[in-house]
Amino acid sequence: MGIAFLNGNFLPIEQAKISPLDRGFLFGDGIYEVVPSYQGKMVGFKPHMERMKHGLSAIGIPLDWPQQQWSDLCHRLIEENGSGNLGLYLHISRGAYPSRSHRFPREINPTVFAYTFEIGSPPVADKSQVKTYSVSTARDMRWDRRHIKSTALLGNVLHHQQGVEQGNEETLLYNADNELTEASSCNVFVVKNGTLLTPALDHQKLPGVTRYMLLDILRKEGSIPIQERTITMDEVAGADEIWITSSSKEIVPVTEVDGVPVGNGQVGDIWLAAQSLYSANKFNY
Ligand code: PDD
Repeated sequence: MGIAFLNGNFLPIEQAKISPLDRGFLFGDGIYEVVPSYQGKMVGFKPHMERMKHGLSAIGIPLDWPQQQWSDLCHRLIEENGSGNLGLYLHISRGAYPSRSHRFPREINPTVFAYTFEIGSPPVADKSQVKTYSVSTARDMRWDRRHIKSTALLGNVLHHQQGVEQGNEETLLYNADNELTEASSCNVFVVKNGTLLTPALDHQKLPGVTRYMLLDILRKEGSIPIQERTITMDEVAGADEIWITSSSKEIVPVTEVDGVPVGNGQVGDIWLAAQSLYSANKFNY
């Protein structure tokens, strides 16, 4: 059992207690971040803090901790919980209030909760060692503000479980126009004829930090052409490579979609190049 942070105090997680009247519990009224840390070194701390700031502003929670305060909190959690491979989970809800009303209460203190969980070793850029995923596909049935990293994850959970029940590890999602949005807990990339494609950002998908860092790293290096644009599910079906990205997984090659091999069914060369560059540069953000 680890050490958590709750409203100003560090304490054993089993002693961390939140009121059942907390709006995070009753309404899913909050946002969260997951920042990976390997041997005490965080990946993407600054972009995670930027996204958290936007999320707080988008849902009107007036918490304006300076970045240093979050940084201190994260470093203390790493110190308390050993410096292996950790996901740092940071969660801010609107807070607890005695009466149940949908409107934002005027006098309310946000609940700030953070803890760590173990994550796997980051993927090594090696085709024979990387864990590949099989995925399902499904019509994206979540809400229309998916750019907010809301703690209300029921839509994501149900889509994820759909894939699991079909014997897969993830579910790729598409909208009513047959356009790829993202996966239940990851962003998606597609390779076709040597070009890397990923859906352009809008309200239908989370602006993933891994996505941002990967695109930035690849653009700076310059050898892989990139397009951020609409991707149809027909293009997904005809892809040479598919990858999914998230903070705790980095870049995962998908080798099967709905039971059909992606390209030649093997991990691709562009994945190898991308994961090599990501591994070499990820601590610079
Ligand atoms: N999932 N899209 C969705 C719906 C996600 O939940 C996530 C992250 C991503 C990738 O974002 P990032 O690269 O910033 O991790 C995309 C996290 C890790 C989770 O819920 O555990």
